[in-house]
Amino acid sequence: MNNEIKIHPLVQNIKDEIIDNRRYFHKHPELSFKEFNTLEVIEKKLINMGITNITKMAKTGLIADIKGSKNGKTIGLRADMDALPIQETSDLSFKSINDGVMHACGHDGHMAMLLGAAKIINEKKEKLNGNVRLIFQPAEEGPAGATYMIKDGALKGVDQIYGIHLWNYQKVGEIGVKPGPIMAAADMFEIEIHGKGGHGATPHGTVDAIVVASNLINSLQTIVSRNTNPIESTVVTVGMINGGYNFNVIADRVKLKGTSRSYTKKNRNIIKKRMNEIILGLEKMYGAKIILNYKDGYPPTINDPECANNVLSASNKIVGKGAGNPYLSMGGEDFSYYLEKIPGCFFFVGSCPLDQEPLSTPHHCSHFNIDETALLIGSSSFITLIEDLLINC
Ligand code: NI
Repeated sequence: MNNEIKIHPLVQNIKDEIIDNRRYFHKHPELSFKEFNTLEVIEKKLINMGITNITKMAKTGLIADIKGSKNGKTIGLRADMDALPIQETSDLSFKSINDGVMHACGHDGHMAMLLGAAKIINEKKEKLNGNVRLIFQPAEEGPAGATYMIKDGALKGVDQIYGIHLWNYQKVGEIGVKPGPIMAAADMFEIEIHGKGGHGATPHGTVDAIVVASNLINSLQTIVSRNTNPIESTVVTVGMINGGYNFNVIADRVKLKGTSRSYTKKNRNIIKKRMNEIILGLEKMYGAKIILNYKDGYPPTINDPECANNVLSASNKIVGKGAGNPYLSMGGEDFSYYLEKIPGCFFFVGSCPLDQEPLSTPHHCSHFNIDETALLIGSSSFITLIEDLLINC
């Protein structure tokens, strides 16, 4: 283990409880908006800690307030709760008992870290110059549970929000954080090309949807290579193409499906705008009708510079030189919706065991597992953040 790791002494005292909680959640995973048992367990645990100011919301989520003795800022700490439709293939003693459902992204650990932090912060509440709002959010894996939480008032009165993702792309003992974009916008598109069919030997008079599609796919690649700034990462992928009938038939229809990724609103807009312009140009060029159905996924996750600095300074106290730049991916995260409303910071707590390669147990794989020391680091970072922001301020 990294010699520099300094687990918060109060976390050290409840280490077993934090790990047991994670293992319980791991064994009993539930899919998005079906976190009924998970919600009940969290509520019970909070009440047992003496945290009773609880409001259920967003179908299977809740918020709970820890009120300090003095007025001040309200800091939100968020954990997501849902698992994935994956059959676990590990042989852990606490492997999933729910068939086809698995905590393969680390959200089991997110809940355990927040519960651990909640217990300790609540014991210190007399010292708080402000309040802490615990945010347990359902349905991060697709249905944008964060938007339901926001709609139901989870951010009401909250000044800043922080969230952790356990991160198997970084070794345990590292914390990845940076100001600005940290996760990508993840959008989806479908394109239908309507041409005019005919005999393969008499192309004149037809509009060949396959020729149009070929040109379109090539032209879409020029958005990343020629329209967005090469210093800023973007992706346009056509992942599916469907069309045609036989070797001697000119196809009248082709369907495409793809995804685009970007770290900024600016690039997201460039991609959409150029897709539309390329399509209009090709319609004119070939006389085809092209229908674009572009669906916005989660927006980019953009950290507030001051809040990112708060996380970096708290992280330094826990992992020393292990705190620094994150391993970035073009994945999406619905924490982005909170950051569109209020300042905050989403950061990565390295959870890859030291004796494994960071890409050997990736998120969303059926043998996903973490080094549980990461849980103690995560709880410690939440607590240190609150100490910095609301106690030693
Ligand atoms: Ni996740």
